[in-house]
Amino acid sequence: MPAARVTNYYQVKYGPLSVSYLPVLDGGGMTFGQQYLDVIRQKLGRVGHAFEYCAGPGFIGFSLLAHGLCERLTLADINPEAVRAARDTVARNGLQDRVAVYESDCLDQIPATEKWDLVVSNPPHFDGDQQEYKDAIRLIDPGWEIHKRFYRDVKKFLKPGASIIFQENAHATRSEDFEQMIRENGLSLVDVFEAGSSQGLSGDRRKNGKGRVLPGLAQGLMKRAMLPVEQALMNSRLERFLKDNDVYRKLSTLPIFTPKQFYFIWSKAQNDA
Ligand SMILES: C[S@@+](CC[C@H](N)C(=O)[O-])C[C@H]1O[C@@H](n2cnc3c(N)ncnc32)[C@H](O)[C@@H]1O
Repeated sequence: MPAARVTNYYQVKYGPLSVSYLPVLDGGGMTFGQQYLDVIRQKLGRVGHAFEYCAGPGFIGFSLLAHGLCERLTLADINPEAVRAARDTVARNGLQDRVAVYESDCLDQIPATEKWDLVVSNPPHFDGDQQEYKDAIRLIDPGWEIHKRFYRDVKKFLKPGASIIFQENAHATRSEDFEQMIRENGLSLVDVFEAGSSQGLSGDRRKNGKGRVLPGLAQGLMKRAMLPVEQALMNSRLERFLKDNDVYRKLSTLPIFTPKQFYFIWSKAQNDA
């Protein structure tokens, strides 16, 4: 029998839960992804069953569970390393009865028995080609396939009244990039909003992605600047070196790591809105 693979995970504490991760699996869920706590408290309160799409190690989902904002949790990611880390968290915290974890390309490997009250996600935020996706799986959504396939397939997993709230990057997209995907799949847009604001974005600010969306050229430049960094960070030794120290941990709590460019896009099954 092959020896079981043992990974030395790092731990981040959310309430009573100890969440296992590797820095190379963090796509922002430890920092700006934690904005979800206030968002779910403010918009929905405690829900029954939450699902985190593109979950990585499940920073967002486990944090919702730890803070009593959901009773049950399902996580899925295409990266087997992320799935292994999430399963380690389940075992370490004795959550087998409340949490399911799937390795899944979009929703393809999720069993039909899964039914959710809430879907959250901090998905890859930048458009790109297949090679860029291969090089930077946390950053690139090639041709918006990861979003399109999600909105196409999610309806059958939603309980009546369920909400989908995605966190998106206004430097890379505007909400209207996703509105058609939402509407053409029998879902309706409920709101587009920023964390910490009780009012939705409206009119031009909503249309223009809060007015801060970078024009095509600047967006391309930003992606070009971020890709080599992202590729370098896919070397887990380098990312561990950079991120797994007290200086980074301190810095990551500063507002610069939870920048204001993120917005939330909230949709529901059409009959529920
Ligand atoms: C921005 S990272 C977010 C990770 C984590 N949720 C967080 O907030 O730190 C995007 C995640 O999407 C996952 N992903 C990329 N392509 C995917 C696909 N086709 N199906 C499922 N997950 C995918 C990546 O492996 C990565 O974990």
